[in-house]
Amino acid sequence: MTEAILLVGGKGTRLRPMTVNTPKPMVPAAGVPFLTHQLARARAAGVEHIVLATSYLAEVFEPYFGDGSSLGLHLEYVTEVEPLGTGGAIRNVAERLTSGPDEPVLIFNGDILTGLDIRALVHTHETSGADVSLHLTRVEDPRAFGLVPTDPTGRVTAFLEKPQTPEEIVTDQINAGAYVFRRSVIDSIPAGRPVSVERETFPGLLADGAHLQGMVDSTYWLDLGTPQAFVRGSADLVLGRAPSPAVPGRCGDRLVVDGAEVAADAKLTGGTVVCAGAVVGEGARIDGSAVMAGAVVEPGAVVTDSLVGEGARIGARTVLHGAVIGDGAHVGADNELRDGVRVWCGAHLPAGAVRFSSDQ
Ligand code: GTP
Repeated sequence: MTEAILLVGGKGTRLRPMTVNTPKPMVPAAGVPFLTHQLARARAAGVEHIVLATSYLAEVFEPYFGDGSSLGLHLEYVTEVEPLGTGGAIRNVAERLTSGPDEPVLIFNGDILTGLDIRALVHTHETSGADVSLHLTRVEDPRAFGLVPTDPTGRVTAFLEKPQTPEEIVTDQINAGAYVFRRSVIDSIPAGRPVSVERETFPGLLADGAHLQGMVDSTYWLDLGTPQAFVRGSADLVLGRAPSPAVPGRCGDRLVVDGAEVAADAKLTGGTVVCAGAVVGEGARIDGSAVMAGAVVEPGAVVTDSLVGEGARIGARTVLHGAVIGDGAHVGADNELRDGVRVWCGAHLPAGAVRFSSDQ
């Protein structure tokens, strides 16, 4: 059966401060580390052997997932001494693969939430005879992504990283962060130095005449790299809009993980998750948000589209809208925080310190 590499070593800078103490793939989405959803989906598609390419905060993965047997997987971990980038990370784990030179190896970015049909991608790879096959998705605004135009047969014709001018935006198809490599192509990536698969390996293969095949689909797809996207992805998992066999409970408007305490008249909506050991006080209203383990939301607080970090405290009547509150931060009562504000881990904000509107 096909084996897979999961890239989980990035620093996750766009998601800070959620990634100060926790690598992005271990930040909980719908109550479990995000990586759990990807592992469970790979397993459901028949993948049994997965090598995790770790770097940033590498030491936290193995104590949590162990040998993978609880998920029905055989997991291995390879840590880079220095971060090697996406391509370097793939090359660095090659010796742990058991596939033969012509066999397919799956590769996943560790921050993509998608309903991709993994078997269909492998099938496309095998029937097209490609060296590398890429999952492509269509987005409305492709400027933040790598564009991947294809010819009518799906063969990739170019790689255009982060296009800016209208002339550069030749397609709405982007690299969706899941690939199938012919094993021998992995072995051809230079070892022992940083390599970007997007900027170096793919364009280089194309220039050398290799066959790169795209598979475009219209399934759920979200890059969870930013706080807004992460909280959206978590909510979509809770609501059942994004598919995962690993959501710990029934999908619906809310998910209250075992060991959380929610007041009877608190209102949780829009795919809100409250993790173990968290407390939500009377009359609090939380919509489309994630309250991490051990956090406290005091009575009457109103939290919308926000991430509340582990052990953080949100004071009474405080309003959060599109906010990120780092682990252990305390936001006092009667604050109003909006529009992408990031409160750092452990910071203390006094009561009534910040508002975006009059207090009268
Ligand atoms: P930002 O810093 O916010 O851009 O996030 P990131 O560090 O995760 O980078 P990016 O989103 O471009 O990474 C795509 C995938 O590759 C993610 O799953 C990362 O974990 C992974 N990744 C990026 N760089 C490295 C690296 O040097 N080593 C390993 N092992 N994985 C990496």
